[in-house]
Amino acid sequence: MFEEVIKLKREKNAVVLAHNYQRPEVQDVADFIGDSLNLSLAARNTPARLVVFAGVYFMAETAAVLNPQKKVVIPDLGAGCSLASSVDVEKVKKWREKNPNGVVVSYINTYVDVKALSDYVCTSANCLKIVESIPRDRPVLFLPDKYLGMYIAAKLGREIEIWDGECHVHAKLTTPAILTKVKLHRDAEVLVHPECGCGTACLLEFPKLGVEPKFLSTEGMVNYVKRSPSKRFIVATETGIIYRMAREAPGKDYIPAAEDAVCEYMKLTTLEKVYRSLRDEIYVVSVPRDLAERARLAIERMFQFT
Ligand code: 13P
Ligand code: SF4
Repeated sequence: MFEEVIKLKREKNAVVLAHNYQRPEVQDVADFIGDSLNLSLAARNTPARLVVFAGVYFMAETAAVLNPQKKVVIPDLGAGCSLASSVDVEKVKKWREKNPNGVVVSYINTYVDVKALSDYVCTSANCLKIVESIPRDRPVLFLPDKYLGMYIAAKLGREIEIWDGECHVHAKLTTPAILTKVKLHRDAEVLVHPECGCGTACLLEFPKLGVEPKFLSTEGMVNYVKRSPSKRFIVATETGIIYRMAREAPGKDYIPAAEDAVCEYMKLTTLEKVYRSLRDEIYVVSVPRDLAERARLAIERMFQFT
């Protein structure tokens, strides 16, 4: 099946883009593996005709928004996201009406109707730079991740309005969960995704215990383990990333902060489904033109910060 996928990609002028949380066999067949930011850059820059997006729906939708002339397909239509689904568009519209001077900054984990209502899209790799660039006298609504929002507010020392959403996978990565692993592995470096449920406690409390966690996007984590001389890392994010870490920075120990931090939406994509998706060019992800145009503006504003 692996060889069939490779052959079909060539015949059909197609690429497979895979998120860092994808199953190992799906990562192995991908032309590009990355975090949300790098996947959207890859989607924008690919010369391929067909993009098979091995990730979740909002990511494939972002690829479709950036590639109106290309065909974007997703191997499983059920690949949702608890965080992206937490947003009520009507409430965002009301906030905009009440705050004509306000700025809406949306994490990339949102659907296209929310992106279209936003001034900026951001990822965990560029959210600090983007919010910092907004004049302090303008109210900011950050959505949908409350932990990432709290992290931004704490790092920048700025009051922002924060949507009350969370990722059910990262919510499991609480301060006690991470601390249990820290106590067991005192020599390990601690890598924390800012979506984690430890939120600002990690940022403020851990240093008091002599632990200096590094807050990184998934791509930031992979790059960090490659260049760090350390031999052991506690990884506080979805466990799928450990496969890529072990492949690109072998000979080190990667300890999941929680073994059950597994995103069932990401794991819906199997090698068989990637093959079927490529062969039958299903399921096509299409976005209404007016929404796509408005969402593209907010995404392009983000690219100015990368
Ligand atoms: P990044 O890969 O952008 O760090 O995001 C993590 C995530 O949860 C994606 O859904
Ligand atoms: Fe969404 Fe969380 Fe899964 Fe990422 S890990 S796709 S934020 S549910």
